[in-house]
Amino acid sequence: MKKKIGILTGGGDCPGLNPAIRGCVYAGERFGYEFIGFNDGWRGIIEGRTEPLNREKVEYIVMQGGTILGTSRTNPFKKEEHVKKVLENFKKFNLHALVAIGGEDTLGVATRLYEEHKLNVVGVPKTMDNDLNVTDYTFGFDTSVTRAMEAANALIDTGRSHRRVIVFEVMGRHAGWVALFTAMATAADYLCVPERKIDGKDMIEKIKKAYERKKFALVVVSEAVEIDQEEKNPIQQEVDQFGHIILKERGMGEKIAKYIEDKTGIETRHAVIGHMQRGGQPTLFDRILATRVGIKAAELIRDEDFGKMAALVGNKIVGVPLKDATGKLKVVSEEWFKLADLLF
Ligand code: F6P
Repeated sequence: MKKKIGILTGGGDCPGLNPAIRGCVYAGERFGYEFIGFNDGWRGIIEGRTEPLNREKVEYIVMQGGTILGTSRTNPFKKEEHVKKVLENFKKFNLHALVAIGGEDTLGVATRLYEEHKLNVVGVPKTMDNDLNVTDYTFGFDTSVTRAMEAANALIDTGRSHRRVIVFEVMGRHAGWVALFTAMATAADYLCVPERKIDGKDMIEKIKKAYERKKFALVVVSEAVEIDQEEKNPIQQEVDQFGHIILKERGMGEKIAKYIEDKTGIETRHAVIGHMQRGGQPTLFDRILATRVGIKAAELIRDEDFGKMAALVGNKIVGVPLKDATGKLKVVSEEWFKLADLLF
């Protein structure tokens, strides 16, 4: 009888999840495994909802955004009975191993299932935020930033024509990588990220200078930032099962645009890319990276190297301990801020 492998995708979706599933199934079938997919992240294994996965099913998903398995932000460790369910269903479905594809939260659960319950788990890193440790890049990031870059290019055309300041808000609750790369790639004039409180005075001075020079300025803003001169961040503080703020109002771009217009008197508009940057076809880079880490997950299982994650280190895909990748987010470092300070 063939050994059975389960796959799930958890957390926010991003382009590359499907190529990763495909890479894992292609390689795993070669090694003699059969696959099932759990639907909607950890919720699928708690509730025992599955679908068969095989080469025919995944062949043409390499170019599809989102995840064919569905996803959720369910954390089984929120309830003891849910952890029990995961362990029961692991047995019931006769799994030899489980591949968890996700970011820090999903892989944090995988780490605990391996460390505390000795389950045969391996991880595949994904996140459009690029905030996962130990891997140089995660798939999803390149596509999202490319999409944001294209949107910023369009905003520059209209902003310059109308001689306005444009504030462009991108995703990134805890880490500013998406904003930083978008700003670097589009000749932006100012960058606002969660890692650094905005110095309102500095921002206004720089925008005024840029505007004097070219009658236009572009400001790229992460969705969760703080201005030092403002009262409290008005965004609601509801949290998800992993304790992250749920940003239902994506208001920072608008708030900063108003601040700039009030302080400078220059006509200012804002735009929010929101979930548009998380869907659509993955870029070439993400398709290849996702395929490689998916294949590596199957290799880790073949080698019985459980409790590992398939990471990109330099140009190689290697197995690293899951526990090294989770527990702490990779935020924009001083090294990158030095670059940013030369540009913005
Ligand atoms: O997956 C991470 C992320 O893309 C964040 O950058 C963003 O804040 C969040 O997801 C949005 O989540 P949701 O889709 O649940 O609104």
